[in-house]
Amino acid sequence: MLIAQYMTEEHRKCDQFYADAEQAVLKGDWDKARELFKKFKEKTLLHFKKEEEVLFPEFEQKTGIVMGPTQVMRHEHNQARDLLEKLEKALGERNREEFLSTGESLMILLQQHNMKEEQILYPMSDQNLPSEEMVEKLSELGEV
Ligand SMILES: [Fe+2]
Ligand SMILES: [Fe+2]
Repeated sequence: MLIAQYMTEEHRKCDQFYADAEQAVLKGDWDKARELFKKFKEKTLLHFKKEEEVLFPEFEQKTGIVMGPTQVMRHEHNQARDLLEKLEKALGERNREEFLSTGESLMILLQQHNMKEEQILYPMSDQNLPSEEMVEKLSELGEV
């Protein structure tokens, strides 16, 4: 399997986890929303971890590109982490408007972020790294 295929699938799963949590908020089912949001947050952070601890370092080592796309991606992960905290706070306060608007900001950020990875970083990774071996290493950290 290609790195691009494996990681893109994780993006799609995370999108769905968020959509499920948002659906529960829209229905006013806060208990369900907390449970679904927890899953979304855990899986999103696991995906970031796979990139930051495995994929990006290997990419940087192999290509010698250290101050390029991986730095931008790390910065965007941190922006996403801040928004995840804001979302969790909004859930705790059962603040529907705050949750929905922060969620929209996060989805826009992630959409653009994921597109850059899927169109540039993952294909470059497959070109420069042993795909099968990398997918195995990434899988060892857990499943999204
Ligand atoms: Fe990422
Ligand atoms: Fe990603």
